[in-house]
Amino acid sequence: MEPVKTAVVTGRHPFDARGFAELFRSLEGVDPYIQHMEEFSADPAQLRDWYDWEESVAALPEEVPPFLQPAEFRANREFCGLGSEVDPQLDEAASRIAQSPALRLLAWHCFRLLYEHLEYNEFRHWPSLEQALGTELHCVFYLLVAMGMVPRVREVHAKMGVEEQVTRDTCSQVASVASNYARLTGGKLGVTVRTVYWMRHYTAGRLFRLGRMEYMIRPYRSGPTVYRNRETDEVLALAPEGMRFEGEGYVDGTAGRFDVENGWTSTFAEDDDAVTGYPYSPLGMAVRREVRLPKSTWDCVLKHGDLTLDMHIPAGGRMSAEVSGDSMRRAVPFFRQHFPDEPFDSITCYSWIFNTQFEQIPMSSTNLADYQHELYLFPIPSSGKDGLWFVFLDDDPDPATAPRDTSLRRGVADFLLAGNTWRCGAMLYLTEDLEHYGTQRYRSPWPPAGLGL
Ligand SMILES: CC(C)(COP(=O)(O)OP(=O)(O)OC[C@H]1O[C@@H](n2cnc3c(N)ncnc32)[C@H](O)[C@@H]1OP(=O)(O)O)[C@@H](O)C(=O)NCCC(=O)NCCS
Repeated sequence: MEPVKTAVVTGRHPFDARGFAELFRSLEGVDPYIQHMEEFSADPAQLRDWYDWEESVAALPEEVPPFLQPAEFRANREFCGLGSEVDPQLDEAASRIAQSPALRLLAWHCFRLLYEHLEYNEFRHWPSLEQALGTELHCVFYLLVAMGMVPRVREVHAKMGVEEQVTRDTCSQVASVASNYARLTGGKLGVTVRTVYWMRHYTAGRLFRLGRMEYMIRPYRSGPTVYRNRETDEVLALAPEGMRFEGEGYVDGTAGRFDVENGWTSTFAEDDDAVTGYPYSPLGMAVRREVRLPKSTWDCVLKHGDLTLDMHIPAGGRMSAEVSGDSMRRAVPFFRQHFPDEPFDSITCYSWIFNTQFEQIPMSSTNLADYQHELYLFPIPSSGKDGLWFVFLDDDPDPATAPRDTSLRRGVADFLLAGNTWRCGAMLYLTEDLEHYGTQRYRSPWPPAGLGL
């Protein structure tokens, strides 16, 4: 490769958004990669979204930004759970970015947009750098930006008194998204642009990985209202007012299909004495039988607007019921200790992983079904494609030609090929019940006595 001539971009430059294109033109001939950069600087509409570009130009350090310097990105890489075998590619990408004034400025700008301009959300406009950096390295650019979160995360966690292992586990999400990218590209290093925004949750000190899962405290929205019987300790979730269900009790309209013949709509009403509504079975579907819960025996334990521990599931398999439960047990005291002013009494998660159809899908492990049996499942609206990206790394796979290299992929592809409509799902778990985790707390016994269910 020919040595790259560099131009140092310092001080304040008169670049507004459109000036981005001018920057690259002015540098043409200096850097052999610049000519390719025109590809993403040509669309003025897109350039308008290069928010606060001038500020980044003004703030660009004379030295290479720290997240592009080997000492820092190696430490970051290690914290993110990536092995030293990726160092040669990190070295090459970082060196090419550092030597190209345009790429260096772009990396700096992306870094600032991601970690400093928290109101900025136009990540979909971030350019493909394939022509500028080549097929092997173009997404290493975004990996370096993502890994750049590490010093901030460490600082935030240290101030909170979070133990270092939790910080490392939390940062390992970068390795997790890099493994998806590797699967997607036949083993290449990098992360896709669409995953980069997620890193902000870590620098904000809101999202933490405790064991297998990640969590953050959030307001509980759009799920059922949940009651506990004071005498029997039974738990019952009631569907919101006005939800439309198909005959089996799943949300109607999945994949645009409506159950005209057997569809029905839930109601929910409350007066001084009782709450009346339609229950969700903990097995994950609505029950078409109205129940009345007297307030003298049923307490509301979860409602819209309460805080909840919102759970996220990093890629990586090995999600046994035991490992998943252990994570939930760790998360509750952790968040109570670090966020004492944000009380919560539940863990909730909306995910394709809580699709009850996994009962019918053969896989080499029964982890998903086993975990589901421990939880209170409930139905949610679904596009008919939820989560397929996580399985096939494709939002809209053709089941006839989709990859079949794992039992999960084979199981899901066969299920879709058989003409089934793919659903999504959700779960809740009341923290008070964690001591009963492992006993299928919500479904044994089901239904609660005396309600006519
Ligand atoms: C997919 C997932 C649910 C699997 O968990 P699990 O049931 O414990 O998986 P196991 O470790 O028992 O593996 C079972 C099989 O699934 C395969 N598998 C696991 N994760 C996979 C994935 N993301 N894509 C394709 N196959 C996967 C395994 O290779 C194994 O196949 P094999 O029998 O051919 O060896 C989960 O762990 C995961 O990694 N999800 C990705 C992240 C995600 O979707 N988060 C939620 C976002 S809303």
